[in-house]
Amino acid sequence: MLSTEKSHSKREAIGFVKKVGSGGDQSGGAGSVGIGFLSTKSLNQGSDTKEYTLHHHFALDCVAIPKITISVMASISLPSICPSAALSFQDKCKEKTKSRSSSKSVFSVKTKSHGQITMAVAVNTSRFDNITMAPPDPILGVSEAFKADTSEMKLNLGVGAYRTEELQPYVLKVVKKAENLMLERGENKEYLPIEGLAAFNKATAELLFGADNPVLHQQRVATIQGLSGTGSLRVAAALIERYFPGAKVLISSPTWGNHKNIFNDARVPWSEYRYYDPKTVGLDFDGMVADIKAAPEGSFVLLHGCAHNPTGIDPTPEQWEKIADVIQEKNHIPFFDVAYQGFASGSLDEDASSVRMFAARGMELLVAQSYSKNLGLYAERIGAINVLCSSADAAVRVKSQLKRIARPMYSNPPVHGARIVANVVGNPDFFNEWKEEMEMMAGRIKSVRQKLYNNLSAKDKSGKDWSFVLKQIGMFSFTGLNKTQSDNMTDKWHVYMTKDGRISLAGLSSAKCEYLADAIIDSYHNVS
Ligand SMILES: Cc1ncc(COP(=O)(O)O)c(C=O)c1O
Repeated sequence: MLSTEKSHSKREAIGFVKKVGSGGDQSGGAGSVGIGFLSTKSLNQGSDTKEYTLHHHFALDCVAIPKITISVMASISLPSICPSAALSFQDKCKEKTKSRSSSKSVFSVKTKSHGQITMAVAVNTSRFDNITMAPPDPILGVSEAFKADTSEMKLNLGVGAYRTEELQPYVLKVVKKAENLMLERGENKEYLPIEGLAAFNKATAELLFGADNPVLHQQRVATIQGLSGTGSLRVAAALIERYFPGAKVLISSPTWGNHKNIFNDARVPWSEYRYYDPKTVGLDFDGMVADIKAAPEGSFVLLHGCAHNPTGIDPTPEQWEKIADVIQEKNHIPFFDVAYQGFASGSLDEDASSVRMFAARGMELLVAQSYSKNLGLYAERIGAINVLCSSADAAVRVKSQLKRIARPMYSNPPVHGARIVANVVGNPDFFNEWKEEMEMMAGRIKSVRQKLYNNLSAKDKSGKDWSFVLKQIGMFSFTGLNKTQSDNMTDKWHVYMTKDGRISLAGLSSAKCEYLADAIIDSYHNVS
């Protein structure tokens, strides 16, 4: 407690303030940092909590000092205080002192002390001192490290964001056109409804399921706009937590780094199913099916609709059918994460084929969508959560509950990205332009994938088969490099990537393919 009240305080001692401890200390070495009178008053009658006030002291910059000692040099009015007894209260101090500009500092302390006191005070004590430092995000933290690297050779293959051949961020031309149109129309910035922009919700569901899909005509899909893929997944996770208590979500091993965080934070239990086979650098299809089969009936199965992140390994159409069989058999609920529609193959329809096949079987399912990658709207946070239900009536109820979840989380979603998507999808010329640009982006990624493979196989004389690079799809390649090898990529070659061996080919230029191949070959063969 910091108090300016003087009326009940009594001068009791002359004290000096001295720094102890070192964490966070910016003031230099140990020593006295202030001197003055101490006074106390009992905060509550009969309580042993006293407020200590340091009056008229000389003070150096105590604000930057985490711990100080207050030593009472002479007792004035409290007979029980004598010059050299000690009272430590650094953890109990209720408020940080202000000693730089004020002539008075006040602390509250529980004291049982008799006799002289030396008080160790946490001057800069915060109510948040028990909050420890969070580790950097394994994906976004890579970009921070990249920025700090001064090497000319550095390459950021960490974050999944599209770059041009010049390794610059790219704003789609069609997005700029849609934005210009929006400006011309002078659209306002009023709140959207909780479920988002109606035109966006219609467009996004049509893009996903196909405009003429019967599930849309039957009004069996509950769609609300979400805060991109992540926010949409989070709302769906809250729905699961609320209406399917105890149900597990099965997640592929490995998966996109944020999936586990999302379900953990939503308090939804999850477990992993086998997905990646390090021996083949391919899909462990038998393991996947066996694990889905072994899960408790009625589990949610999280599936990457296309371009699996981080592996870039997708099931074949035949494998998708078998996955659907086992999910149906076990009465599980498929939960698709579609973050790369159109970006994987270059075709919006092809990349939605897994979802559409499940829907055509009459299955109920959830789909989170994102427009971060395919429209390059990373920072606009635009996506959607769709729940396909077996009846229109169920869809209405589900939608009402999705809105109920969204309202206290973020109230209503942002409008800008929603309008861009609605304009692009709703205007045939823009829509065609978008498809062309998406093909161009997907094509550039495919071409560096091919070039990387060519360099790897030409330069590596060990006979290692690098063809897995070509079999993978989408933005990423899972190189099979372990953590130490990935560290070597960064430390020696200035190639920034996630420590699971994933590289984003969207951040690779044709000109850097040879350099990257050298780095991979060196890390693979010379580091274990
Ligand atoms: C598999 C997967 N799901 C969801 C997302 C969510 O991305 P955003 O929240 O930017 O839409 C990503 C982004 O990398 C992803 O790879």
